[in-house]
Amino acid sequence: MIKVLTIFGTRPEVIKLYPLIEELKEDKDFDTKILNTGQHKEMVNELLNIFNINPDFSLNIMEEKQSLEHITKGVLDGVGKILNEEKFDIVIVQGDTTTTFVSSLTSFYHKIPVGHVEAGLRTNNIYYPFPEEMNRILTDKLSTLDFAPTENAKNNLIKEGVDESKIFVTGNTIVDAIQKISNFNVNFNLNLPDDKKIITVTAHRRESWENGLSRIGNAIKKLSKIYKDIFFVIPIHKNPVVREKIIPILSGVDNVLITEPLDYINFVHLMKKSFLILSDSGGVQEEVPTLNKPLLLLRNETERPEAVKAGFVRIVGTDEDKIFENVKDIIDNGWKPISNYNPFGDGKASERIKKIIKEYFYGSI
Ligand code: UD1
Ligand code: UDP
Repeated sequence: MIKVLTIFGTRPEVIKLYPLIEELKEDKDFDTKILNTGQHKEMVNELLNIFNINPDFSLNIMEEKQSLEHITKGVLDGVGKILNEEKFDIVIVQGDTTTTFVSSLTSFYHKIPVGHVEAGLRTNNIYYPFPEEMNRILTDKLSTLDFAPTENAKNNLIKEGVDESKIFVTGNTIVDAIQKISNFNVNFNLNLPDDKKIITVTAHRRESWENGLSRIGNAIKKLSKIYKDIFFVIPIHKNPVVREKIIPILSGVDNVLITEPLDYINFVHLMKKSFLILSDSGGVQEEVPTLNKPLLLLRNETERPEAVKAGFVRIVGTDEDKIFENVKDIIDNGWKPISNYNPFGDGKASERIKKIIKEYFYGSI
């Protein structure tokens, strides 16, 4: 029996680990436990209900406007205590958050192998996105098994000198997640006008806190004044820093709806109803090929160039005029993604990851 501890703390980690958690739970060769660091609160708790995930350990570290140091200390101490009390054969982490990196570091201190889901993503700029690029580099260094979603991610790791025998191209578990939730009932609770086209917007990146978020807000305000047949829906991140920037610019503006974050089922439904998506999210970049939707990326660089190459994502940044011009161009001239090819896989990533973990412990790797 392989004793696995899966650790998450934020919304995207839960979404992308959910299919793997299910996969491991169903397999008698695994004794699987779950640790929620609590880096996020409401945004994670809602998902745990929907996905019926019951963590065995919860650290509850979140505080309002938390610093990176606060998360780092909380995760290091909390995960450390649990690893002192209970022995695990392997720890699984996902992505690039501070929960991801610090959990890997703590596991390393305890000499427990780490499996990194979504390894090898790089912009090659350590300050963009910040601190995620460094979190990924360090997590990949600390891990024993790197589950790269694409060949491109694998090549990034090889360029850094990572031993090829520890890298496995699996696809991205986000595709598994979207496929899984297609069986869920949608209880869509937003009142959207039937006679308008929907544009969904999300933005939360730390690099945009200073000026980017205000520029995004101003661009949407300007667009909403000109294009009366467009309806903007903004499920706003819980972070007060994000809210303080966006809400004063857009509250009360016609054809703009700012809502609480939507649960994953509702959010995917909203994306399906949208004719265009504007976002700086990592996960959303990976979702648009599955949903066959165009995305304007509100960032200057991406670690997911596959989505750009496949024709689903256009990099726009956070310049107000550039956002305005690109949205205008799509409204006026249309833009349909050019391919049906999904660079992020076939929905079987979790199955592959489980198989690789088994082979690591039972032989042949
Ligand atoms: C974090 C990750 C980021 C990821 C994002 C996904 C780090 C450093 N950042 O950024 O990589 O893209 O999650 O959304 O790991 N808050 C709530 N309730 C919640 C969640 C957040 O109130 O459920 C508020 C709190 O005031 C908290 C603040 O948001 O202090 C920021 O949360 P934090 O996890 O530090 O940063 P994110 O911007 O969410
Ligand atoms: N998402 C969600 N509800 C929302 C907004 C986003 O469920 O209101 C999902 C989205 O589909 C994606 C994930 O949250 O799977 C992305 O999370 P976020 O943008 O917070 O983090 P990132 O991916 O940028 O790290």
